[in-house]
Amino acid sequence: MNKPKIIVTRRWPAEVETQLKDLYDVQLNESDIPMNAEQLKLAMQTADALLPTVTDPITADIIGVENRRVQIIGNFGVGYNNIDINAAKAHGIAVTNTPHVLTDCTADIAMLLLLMSARRAAEGERLILNGQWTGWGPTQLVGQKVTGKTLGLIGFGRIAQAMARKAHHGFGMKILFYVPSTPDPAIVEELQAVRCHSVEELLTEAHFVSLHCPGGAATKHLLNEQRLKLMRPSAHLINTARGDVVDSNALIKALTERWIAGAGLDVYEGEPNLNPGFLGLDNVTLLPHLGSASEETRVAMGNRVLNNIAAFFVGTEPPDRVV
Ligand code: DGY
Repeated sequence: MNKPKIIVTRRWPAEVETQLKDLYDVQLNESDIPMNAEQLKLAMQTADALLPTVTDPITADIIGVENRRVQIIGNFGVGYNNIDINAAKAHGIAVTNTPHVLTDCTADIAMLLLLMSARRAAEGERLILNGQWTGWGPTQLVGQKVTGKTLGLIGFGRIAQAMARKAHHGFGMKILFYVPSTPDPAIVEELQAVRCHSVEELLTEAHFVSLHCPGGAATKHLLNEQRLKLMRPSAHLINTARGDVVDSNALIKALTERWIAGAGLDVYEGEPNLNPGFLGLDNVTLLPHLGSASEETRVAMGNRVLNNIAAFFVGTEPPDRVV
C-alpha cells in the first residue's frame, strides 16, 4: 500500500520531521516562507494530509478547490482561527489542533510580558542599548509592584488557568476572571478566583488584564476604545491570544494618551505586519509571537500532529479532532 502523502507548510523541529519522513511520503516547504493561496490550493489537490500552522490562512476558497485530495488538516498550533472550520466541516475534511502541550510555555510568556510591562524592563533595556544609561537614580524607570495586585483574565481556559496559577501561587496575585461558559469549580477554589459578570466589571477592577480568547469573528475588537477607557490609568494589558481581540488603533491611542500605563503584546492584528503606531511608544513591550516557542513544546506540538494523523489514517478518531 502506498504511504499517505503529507505536505507540511513550514519547517518543524528536525526530530519530528524525521519521524514524519519515516512514516509518510512527505513534502516539506524547504524555504520556510509561508505558502501563498495558489501553493496551498495545489497542496490541497496533491496531498492526503495538509499540516499548516498559524501563518497559513486556510480559507473556504482553498478548502473548496476543485479536485481536492486532502482528507485531514492537522494544524500545528492550539488556535485554529487560521482555518475556515465551517468550510472544512461542509466538505467533510477532518481538522485537528495541538492542545495542552503549549499551555505552560504560553502562560510563561504572558507572565513575562506582565512583569516586563509592570517593571518597564523593555524601556530599561532600550536605555542601555541606546547608550543612554548614566547610572542608577531614585526616580528612574519606576514601575509598578506586581506582588499582591489583581490580575483579570478574559477567557478562562487552559492557558488562562496556568497563568492564574503562576500569578496566584508565585506572586500572591488576586485572580478575577470573565468567561461566558461554566468554570471548573476546583480551579476557582484553588485560586480563590472571583468571577466577574461582565468584561466591563473586570476591566474596571483589575491592575493587569490578560487576554485568553480564541480570536476570530466572535471576539474581534472585544477590547475597543470604549472598553479600554474603563481600565485603570495604572493598568497594563497583556495579549498572548490573538491580535484581533484588541482594536490596535484604540490601544495605540490608549497608550499614547496614557489611559493605561502599558501593554505587553505577543500577537498582532494582521501579523507579521505590525501597526506602525506601536513602534514609537515607550510603554509597550513587543514580542514576536513567542508563546509556544520552546524546544520541548515545539517538538511536543509536532508529536501531537503526528498522533492525530496516525489515528486518522488507521481509521480511528484523532485525539484532538476539532471537526
Ligand atoms: C497557537 O498554537 O495557536 C500559537 O499561536 C502558536 O503556537
